[in-house]
Amino acid sequence: NFEQYSSPEGFEARTPPYTKLLRNLQKVRQVLGGSDKPLTLAEKILYSHLVNPEELDIAKGDVGNIRGKQYLKLNPDRVAMQDASAQMAMLQFITCGMKSTAVPASIHCDHLIVGKDGEEKDLPRSIKNNIEVFDFLKSCGEKFGIQVWGPGSGIIHQIVLENFSVPGLMMLGTDSHTPNAGGLGAIAIGVGGADAVDALTGTPWELKAPKILGVNLKGELHGWTSPKDIITKLAGDLTVRGGTGYIVEYFGDGVKQLGCTGMATICNMGAEIGATTSTFPMQDSHFDYLTATGRGPVADLARKVNNETQLMTADKGAQYDKIVEIDLSALEPSVNGPFTPDLRTPISELKSKWRKESWPGEISAGLIGSCTNSSYQDMSRAASLVLQAEKAGLKPKIPFFVTPGSERVRATIGRDGIIDIFKRNGAKVLANACGPCIGQWDRGENKPTGSNVIFTSFNRNFKARNDGNRKTMNFLTSPDIVTAMIYSGSMDFNPLTDSITTPDGKKFKFNPPVGEKLPSRGFIKGRKQFYPEMSPKPKPSVEIQVSPESDRLQLLKPFAPWSGKEFTTTVILKVQGKCTTDHISAAGPWLKYKGHLGNIAHNTLIGAVNKETGEVNTVYDFDGKSYGIPELMQKWKDEQRPWIVVAEHNYGEGSAREHAALQPRYLGGEIILTKSFARIHETNLKKQGMLPLTFANEADYDKLHTGDVITTLNLRDMIKKHGDNGGFIDLEVTKRDTGKKFVIKARHTMSADQVEWFKAGSAINYIRDQAKN
Ligand code: F3S
Repeated sequence: NFEQYSSPEGFEARTPPYTKLLRNLQKVRQVLGGSDKPLTLAEKILYSHLVNPEELDIAKGDVGNIRGKQYLKLNPDRVAMQDASAQMAMLQFITCGMKSTAVPASIHCDHLIVGKDGEEKDLPRSIKNNIEVFDFLKSCGEKFGIQVWGPGSGIIHQIVLENFSVPGLMMLGTDSHTPNAGGLGAIAIGVGGADAVDALTGTPWELKAPKILGVNLKGELHGWTSPKDIITKLAGDLTVRGGTGYIVEYFGDGVKQLGCTGMATICNMGAEIGATTSTFPMQDSHFDYLTATGRGPVADLARKVNNETQLMTADKGAQYDKIVEIDLSALEPSVNGPFTPDLRTPISELKSKWRKESWPGEISAGLIGSCTNSSYQDMSRAASLVLQAEKAGLKPKIPFFVTPGSERVRATIGRDGIIDIFKRNGAKVLANACGPCIGQWDRGENKPTGSNVIFTSFNRNFKARNDGNRKTMNFLTSPDIVTAMIYSGSMDFNPLTDSITTPDGKKFKFNPPVGEKLPSRGFIKGRKQFYPEMSPKPKPSVEIQVSPESDRLQLLKPFAPWSGKEFTTTVILKVQGKCTTDHISAAGPWLKYKGHLGNIAHNTLIGAVNKETGEVNTVYDFDGKSYGIPELMQKWKDEQRPWIVVAEHNYGEGSAREHAALQPRYLGGEIILTKSFARIHETNLKKQGMLPLTFANEADYDKLHTGDVITTLNLRDMIKKHGDNGGFIDLEVTKRDTGKKFVIKARHTMSADQVEWFKAGSAINYIRDQAKN
């Protein structure tokens, strides 16, 4: 028996309910037919969070019958939400009529802060511009007992790592980089707001049991290589689709050398290969980090539980669906990009590559920090390079921005002189918030409008992701490489081998960066105003005000339930190539409207390329008149003409952005038919009552064109006879030009519960109806 630990301060520091988890795990082992069936770490944590382990349907006790096949009903331990997605999560939660949340939850005001001049100016300006939203989130927090971390307190994933993540925890976060918490041995999954509402209402959260991808880390990082290079290598090898349907579990001798925050960087960017999440087995460095962040009792208990039960370690002989090996000793720093995180160039090949690809040779800015790389270790290593350059008399050649991930990191690097090193060498230190990482980067009057290259230590580099300019090429790399590159400003520089000429004509070559995993003098918490009440109690009397005139917030009207009839839809758009959630629901200035479905719907698919014309955000009505994509969707909605979008592979890759599913539904879409989906987006579509289908035969994509009418032939049968493993639906196509008809097959992946969402019109409708009954 292990008592769950909860700090006297409340939600801030608590352990998962280890005793309950171990009991559940024991039941799972019984179902599996005994303790001789080894489990991976990810399976142990995930299956121990099952609502009802006996429901696992095992044929002959083989774990292979679970992974990739069965839907798991899970009880997450907590929920974290960032301000942009929390608005919709809260608007949906409100419609459920509950008085408080069923599990501890936190909201983090980080995405709406613009980075431009530095914290002093940017923070008050952003607060002023978003006050209505921040007040709304604050009142939701007060009413329902949710901890709200205000603007400037830090980035969601860094705050979760510092305060909430614990080995063995299972949590959901309304942000695709939630897996960052896996750096501290948690299973943390990025979801849309409607999934978060499941956990917030105590409804079992459903996930198709992921397969397990083992990554064996061998050897040791040294010199210039850092944890970022491990994940950029993996992204290069596996591509943006390589992790789809998998949890990535790391093991091997190379793990021991990594600090907790380095592991978090690796888990964070597991999102870039489409993985459900990533995690690490419990290490001494987890213990050290928990203790350093003021959670000594949590560290002690986690270690005791693991020593006695190995709950947070894979069983010997655990079976992985795939194993990848990375030799850290042979690893080279790399830069990944532009426009996709899996386009990897080892630093030694950059000089020839940029010429071959005709990328601009000059770099226009360097940015370090963000949720991915703003740890003490990252900052101290970067500062060590700045110090070397300073001593040699060098100044940065290009603008340099630093984003600390939290007030705790900012205050600690401030105390240790690191901020001063950055600032006196020309860096702008931005607020503890997302800023340039999420399109909230105001580059001022002289901002480049054409092709230009930036180097960042961020995680994502889709078009327009940082400054709203689709031609800005973002190369993702370690903070070390970004920092070194600002002193040359050129793609022709390899800091590992090349020298820079100093003002007095000498040759200067960087020594490899050095830093500390944890501050030797310990962390300090920083300014009090950035810390919320630690154990907020729900106050039902708090009124949540949403003005009907607001252009930022809009209360939700439930979507209509399924009519019980077959669908007849018209192809409004055939998408060509990559279509990420940034293409479907752009970020940047649109973040402003996250809480107003009617307004944000005006950005629906504006980044998508029309396969038939090659144009972006351009579609044609039957009379040949051209429209922006959302305009035609709205027009057809008004004319009561339901529509379908046809697309290619990995549709909806990228973030957990549920607006990418809400908006098409709001604008009258019924089906999205693709060659394949990104996992989170497919689930989000189901949650909003849409019908996501994939071609049974990919070549059928070529047979469809805009204006074709597509009718489902056996949707009603599917609803009647659904199982848990999806199935096929026949679609009758009527060609617009010839009237010729033919039938194609499409696959759906709806489970029994998901069919109920579809029938109710959305998952939220279903939860509300269940609560009423
Ligand atoms: Fe923020 Fe997400 Fe970047 S949490 S820092 S926008 S990856």
